[in-house]
Amino acid sequence: GERHPSIPLPKDLFAPERRNSEGVDLQDKDTLAGVASAIASSPLPLAGGAGGGQVPNPSANGKAVPSPNPSRKREGEMVARAQAAYPAWTARPVHERAACLERLADLLEQHRTELMAVCVHEARKTIPDALAEVREAVDFCRYYAEQARGYLVPIELPGPTGERNVLRHEGRGVWATIAPWNFPLAIFLGQTVAALVAGNAVIAKPAPQTPRIAARAVELAHQAGIPEDVLILAPGGPDVGAALVADPRVAGVAFTGSTATARKIARELLANENRPLVPLIAETGGVNAMIVDSTALAEQVVQDVVTSSFRSAGQRCSALRLLLLQEEIAESTLEMLSGAMDTLIIGDPADPATDVGPVIDRQAYDNLMGRREAMRNSWIKTIDVPAEGNFVPPTTIRLRSMDDLDREWFGPLLHVATWRAGDLERTISHVNGKGFGLTMGLHSRIARSAETVEALARVGNLYVNRSMIGAIVGSQPFGGEGFSGTGPKAGGPHYLPRFCAERVTSTDT
Ligand code: NAD
Ligand code: ALA
Repeated sequence: GERHPSIPLPKDLFAPERRNSEGVDLQDKDTLAGVASAIASSPLPLAGGAGGGQVPNPSANGKAVPSPNPSRKREGEMVARAQAAYPAWTARPVHERAACLERLADLLEQHRTELMAVCVHEARKTIPDALAEVREAVDFCRYYAEQARGYLVPIELPGPTGERNVLRHEGRGVWATIAPWNFPLAIFLGQTVAALVAGNAVIAKPAPQTPRIAARAVELAHQAGIPEDVLILAPGGPDVGAALVADPRVAGVAFTGSTATARKIARELLANENRPLVPLIAETGGVNAMIVDSTALAEQVVQDVVTSSFRSAGQRCSALRLLLLQEEIAESTLEMLSGAMDTLIIGDPADPATDVGPVIDRQAYDNLMGRREAMRNSWIKTIDVPAEGNFVPPTTIRLRSMDDLDREWFGPLLHVATWRAGDLERTISHVNGKGFGLTMGLHSRIARSAETVEALARVGNLYVNRSMIGAIVGSQPFGGEGFSGTGPKAGGPHYLPRFCAERVTSTDT
């Protein structure tokens, strides 16, 4: 038959997670001892659910985090303060604002161990995940600083009739940034510093599950030279987010979280007829599929499936939810996958050996365990986990058809279906039909199949012959379409302009 070009095998199957910023060597005993002692000296419990409420801040200064049940008046006052601080901040040259972000990146690196410890305690991140979290936050600060210096400067445009045309990117006013708990530092800070460097004041609302890491990040941002009224922390739950969104003085909203919440915010922004039309950047969930054909390298597939679906306890928006195996290799792949799952270490996230920690809280636990129980007759493989704490057993679940999964289950549950040889295009169109468009994976050594998937898949991030998580700032701009988000992509070259008003002055010369 016709010979198709093949895709070469990878050089390093088990490369560690890559980031732009410097890492710490997690193989180094002294480094790990430092991280472990920072974690041990943090007073928060590890296994139970995260609550909210008035809690001691584990950072050195011991200040209490404000209670998450403020009156609406408080948000109104925050907006007023930020509005008053905005003109001086937006008038600062862009290189000065960028320098603040770079100082913040340096401070984050200086406080890396402490931030990792807070992340492990509060978000139940494993140590490698906590390290990746801090490094991604650093990458966002440095990348947006560099982007701002390069692109948020006046741009001279052609003047065919002799006039002078200049395009300026300027701040819009006060933005609300609203973050999820699963990247409580990287995403919380990423969307916030983007808005700031673009010349806006920001009211930053962390998820109620992770107020402490956010409080520490904001303290460091102030230390880095961002004025206190230009960046205001608004801890609290949905009510605080809703109050900020409803305030007609808020000139833009950057939100990362669930699709359902994004919809509520979009509705609210349009509800008041007297309110100016303002931008909403929403980055939401996914039902992310990986398609595997019979030419794929089985060992690599299994490694990447485990990483993509079970690392971080499946609590990444990018995580693999739906594994689509070509029929011929389905049983052998599932057998290998089950074997690999047996080697996962589930336990205390503060233990450096742990691969998978607990899920964020009891509500998430109950929700995921409900799904798992409902699918009991379709389990392919599940593994034992500690009885105490919110540990959801990583589980693979067989579906009769790939159409039987139409929503995101935000945890370590992997649904599996098969497809027939020759049906690649139809398979992609089924996945597209779900309406989400965040990540997709392909494992194949046939170059033409990769081209087909690239041409047809309606996703923001396509990963070929690798895992589907851990996008790198500046190299793999991240974000989806459809039910998965509005764009522009975080960590990409088109992100900052969306936070700006673009204004053109045309002058007759
Ligand atoms: P969530 O939607 O429940 O909450 C996100 C944030 O919105 C929280 O701060 C919450 O307090 C706030 N909020 C809730 N209701 C609100 C309202 N009516 N108005 C204003 N703010 C409101 O999501 P979550 O459980 O914190 O996070 C998990 C979700 O986030 C998953 O669906 C995941 O896929 C998604 N996510 C997406 C990305 C991405 O880049 N696409 C990244 C991380 C997480
Ligand atoms: N940016 C995160 C990842 O790629 C969500 O896993």
